[in-house]
Amino acid sequence: MIPLVYDQINHWGKDDEFFLSLLKKANVKKIADLGCGTGRLTSQFAKLGYRITAVDPNKEAIEYAKNKEYPGEVTWIVGDSSNLQTDAFDTVIMTANVAQVFLTDQSWQQVISDAFRALKPGGHFIFDTRNPLARVWEQWEKDRTPDVAIHQETGEPLEIWTEYDGFVGDIFTFYETVKNANTDEMLIREKIQLKFRTKEEIHNSLQQVGFSQIQVYGDWKYRKATEDTKSFIFHSIK
Ligand SMILES: C[S@@+](CC[C@H](N)C(=O)[O-])C[C@H]1O[C@@H](n2cnc3c(N)ncnc32)[C@H](O)[C@@H]1O
Repeated sequence: MIPLVYDQINHWGKDDEFFLSLLKKANVKKIADLGCGTGRLTSQFAKLGYRITAVDPNKEAIEYAKNKEYPGEVTWIVGDSSNLQTDAFDTVIMTANVAQVFLTDQSWQQVISDAFRALKPGGHFIFDTRNPLARVWEQWEKDRTPDVAIHQETGEPLEIWTEYDGFVGDIFTFYETVKNANTDEMLIREKIQLKFRTKEEIHNSLQQVGFSQIQVYGDWKYRKATEDTKSFIFHSIK
């Protein structure tokens, strides 16, 4: 994630509305926004009156996040799931495929165990991830045009180019490069890696740490996941 351009190329969408709708249905108050990034959803959660702890290891992203509007109080943590308090939250939520940044079995086990520990009994664990069977990277690789943005400080036009390295095992690697569109100067280059886990793998891992009532939605309209759906939205209960 490149905080300088993230909000400009990741627009509010149906997925974000769906997360708000799930929270509303769950009737919760205190939430942990794990992998909050630039606070795109955090600020919406705050506007809806949730008490929020927002966590991300990316210090720069948290700085961007803090500049948004937050009625009420948000607790900011530069850190990870190990920093979450125990038995403290009604919901732990990870939006925009944060679940895919955990590349090893060990790091995935750690984050879901920490989410379980951090939730009060009856608490909700909500996150989305991409379905490997939908092969979304094939669409990504066809798109040869850069995203565009404006530099927040200088006002200069930026281009964001993506190069795809492909898979090693079930880990997909790509690089994002931010360039000044006027001068062609490269400003930022970041390696991004995503792990594609199957529905069954995630389901079993959640069960193993103790989650129950595991629901898997396949779209942003509460339809059940199938083999073809692009995303899996997991909603389970401690
Ligand atoms: C695709 S962004 C999603 C940001 C935000 N949730 C949203 O909806 O816009 C993925 C985020 O996961 C964060 N991340 C990376 N490693 C993490 C970890 N170990 N624990 C929690 N978050 C992590 C990144 O810093 C980044 O902000």
